[in-house]
Amino acid sequence: MIPAIVVVGSLNMDFVVSVDRLPVPGETVLGRDFQMIPGGKGANQACAAGKLGAGSVAVRLIGRVGYDVFADHLKASLAAAGVDVSAVHAAKSQPTGVALIWVDRRGQNSIVVASGANYALAAADVEAMRKVFRGASLALFQLETPLDTVAAALRLAREEGLLTMLDPAPAQPLPAELLARVDILTPNENEALMLLGRPPARVSRDQAPELAAALRELGVRGVVLKLGDQGSYYCGDTGSFHTPAFPVEVRDSTAAGDTFNAALAVALAEGQPIERALLFANAAAAISVTRLGAQASAPTRAEVDQF
Ligand code: RIB
Repeated sequence: MIPAIVVVGSLNMDFVVSVDRLPVPGETVLGRDFQMIPGGKGANQACAAGKLGAGSVAVRLIGRVGYDVFADHLKASLAAAGVDVSAVHAAKSQPTGVALIWVDRRGQNSIVVASGANYALAAADVEAMRKVFRGASLALFQLETPLDTVAAALRLAREEGLLTMLDPAPAQPLPAELLARVDILTPNENEALMLLGRPPARVSRDQAPELAAALRELGVRGVVLKLGDQGSYYCGDTGSFHTPAFPVEVRDSTAAGDTFNAALAVALAEGQPIERALLFANAAAAISVTRLGAQASAPTRAEVDQF
């Protein structure tokens, strides 16, 4: 039997507009093309894991959608990537989540999420799904569902013996008892600073060891700092090291972090050593930023191997 990854998280339909530059408050800018692309941090991670782990890893997603046309579209995108969506249920009185995204010429974005049904995923719903975790080897979490749901899911995953990986996005402070259930925390610079109660700033590679050590003191077992074009920095039980980024031309950074997490999870579930898993994750994320959109930008295994 192949190892399984469980993803607990959000599904959104992304409304993506390409713009020359991001608007400032009170400003109207004329956009260029518009696309609807399947997204949501949980679904993105599940989809990318499905594509990257095809044949070697099974992927199960726990989430909530509404009773609407977006729900069907999102589930179809995931099913096409080989993701088991039987634990994605419809909430009665909430619409499917949506995200409004502007992407500028440098590939930078601004995102506003209307959570809708994602916030109807309650702790009790996850607790009723223990069987989804059973027998799996690794679980992925993010922060686009209620915090007590994430906490309950982390507890269940730990009880079932899974390795737990938390992407603390969107950035927010987190309680110590939740962080204590995390094996690998994967913040970007701003998320790391937010968790440590520090002001937003650009983090240089040289600052990464101090930042990662400070995050471990919050109670997580290991940290992978995602440093964008500076690569990533790992600090855990087995040591610490930097993995450089692959230089690419950035088209759209949306969901690059999701693809990174998915790739790391797939490689670890396959039993690859952490050094190789992080190289694989950096490569998958590098490919994803060269393409527009969330799930549309996630590469296949063959593409990463060739890259
Ligand atoms: O991480 C990218 C995702 O954030 C987008 O797909 C959007 O839906 C928001 O959830």
